[in-house]
Amino acid sequence: MRVSELQVLISRQQIAQRVSEMAAQITRDFAGQPVIFVGVLKGAAIFLSDLARQVPLDSTFDFIGVCSYGQQQEAAKANAGRGWDSTGEVRLTKDVEHSMAGKNVLLVEDILDTGLTLTYIKKLLLNHQPKSLRLVALLDKPSRRRQPMQADYVGFTIPDKFVVGYGMDYAERFRNLPDICVLSEAVLSSGK
Ligand code: IMP
Repeated sequence: MRVSELQVLISRQQIAQRVSEMAAQITRDFAGQPVIFVGVLKGAAIFLSDLARQVPLDSTFDFIGVCSYGQQQEAAKANAGRGWDSTGEVRLTKDVEHSMAGKNVLLVEDILDTGLTLTYIKKLLLNHQPKSLRLVALLDKPSRRRQPMQADYVGFTIPDKFVVGYGMDYAERFRNLPDICVLSEAVLSSGK
């Protein structure tokens, strides 16, 4: 699979424009208040850094890591053509480092897909008793939802396609692409 074979779904210009709009909305909603950005590793790292730099509020960062058993390549073997299906088991790989108690938490995720990951993380963070918890997702694939879940801020709603770039990966590749691109079903089912 070569980068030149990927099809651009959302260009870098469209991403930049939408991220600025989201940042402006967040700035208005939390005017005068401190916020903590909590990024979901690793996919949200690039989005978080672009977003947070356009939110001129008193801010701190934290990161949380999770993985879904059976995601991506492992599941591709069992689910030809639907290689990114998660088995539904989410596991914490890295907890947050700071207390979220009494804070305005902005949970930043690259993509809201089945909803299993955000359901898991939301429950975990609510146990910290934050002052507020808002979900920020760059992409939303509502047609794939298995758990009812809605983000408070959504960048783009996209169809049921597997995407890479702007932080998102396939088997750890393509995170550095500046555009968001579609990976074909043929590549996903071949597991290449
Ligand atoms: P969910 O738990 O199914 O909502 O999935 C959320 C996670 O699955 C995201 O943070 C991504 O890591 C991964 N994911 C889901 N769809 C895609 C995709 O199209 N490209 C890359 N990663 C994806």
